[in-house]
Amino acid sequence: MKLSDIRFVVSNVFETINTFLSFATNADIMSLKQIGTVSNYADEESLKILALWKESISAIKLSQPISASSLFYDEYSHYIVVHDPIDIEFPEKRNEWNKRFTKDAGVSVVEFIKSEWNTIYVRGLFALNGSMVYGIVPYTAFDSKDARFPAAEMENVRNAVMEKVLPQIKGKTIVDIGCGIGIITIDIARRNLDSEVYGIEINDGLTKQCEMNSKLFQTTNVKFKTGNIYDLPFGDNSVDTATCFFMLHHLDDIPRALAEVKRMLREGGKIKAVDPIGHHHGPDMAASEWQKLFEEAGYSVDVKIIAGAVVSSAILLKNKI
Ligand SMILES: C[S@@+](CC[C@H](N)C(=O)[O-])C[C@H]1O[C@@H](n2cnc3c(N)ncnc32)[C@H](O)[C@@H]1O
Repeated sequence: MKLSDIRFVVSNVFETINTFLSFATNADIMSLKQIGTVSNYADEESLKILALWKESISAIKLSQPISASSLFYDEYSHYIVVHDPIDIEFPEKRNEWNKRFTKDAGVSVVEFIKSEWNTIYVRGLFALNGSMVYGIVPYTAFDSKDARFPAAEMENVRNAVMEKVLPQIKGKTIVDIGCGIGIITIDIARRNLDSEVYGIEINDGLTKQCEMNSKLFQTTNVKFKTGNIYDLPFGDNSVDTATCFFMLHHLDDIPRALAEVKRMLREGGKIKAVDPIGHHHGPDMAASEWQKLFEEAGYSVDVKIIAGAVVSSAILLKNKI
């Protein structure tokens, strides 16, 4: 046999081994059986605001013949769900999320909410709509009805300030602008059962998710619309109270937004805004700068720092121009 023939045989043998190995690896992946599919309105755009999804509820539609009762038990509240990973590159400031959520396997710690036939509702799933689910097991190390994700600093601020602010939100018509996943909007609706409450969100996927969540919570006095704070889907002088929680600092043109809110507010109408201090993005304005912005837009305003956030409580007292 010539040297070139030996080389040819050896390279063929290696190629065969490589092919075999790649088949074996694929076979390993294939052995992960799909037991269900995620159903929510998470898309790449809305999952980029990942923190919101901790509070949102997603459905998992189980493949037959697995039933919810064989996976979820009365004695456990939290579960580990293995699913397709999130195929998103978060920005550098959120590199920690890249490390945690975009690896080869997607894993979420979720709270079991309820099951209906072969559909399970869980809180806290970090997975795109249509992702496959491969496994669900009780997470006993984290199990308690009161258990929550370890709170990040921003969440501590958020919980502390919202506890103070939410009871102050009143009005026959209340519009929560930039409502995200709608959890706060739903809370407002439940505290004001005689009011009409609306959540406005620029991201259509999030609006649909809000609707899914409010249906699940059976909140009937809340409606969600996709809309922009610069062009709100309400007539002039038609709203009593507007709220903007953790959203104004996202905007390029806050004065324009405040003018548009003013257009839809009735005389004597109110706007309550909460914005973080020292956040990773946004203008990070001092309380006095927020005050100036509201005053220049024609509001009478009281600005306070509560639990590490700026709370602006503004009112339209004078005749509207
Ligand atoms: C940090 S999140 C806060 C969500 C919610 N208010 C909360 O506290 O849970 C800000 C939200 O404002 C929305 N948003 C940003 N610009 C907007 C605009 N121009 N009009 C309406 N919503 C907007 C974003 O899509 C996002 O959901």
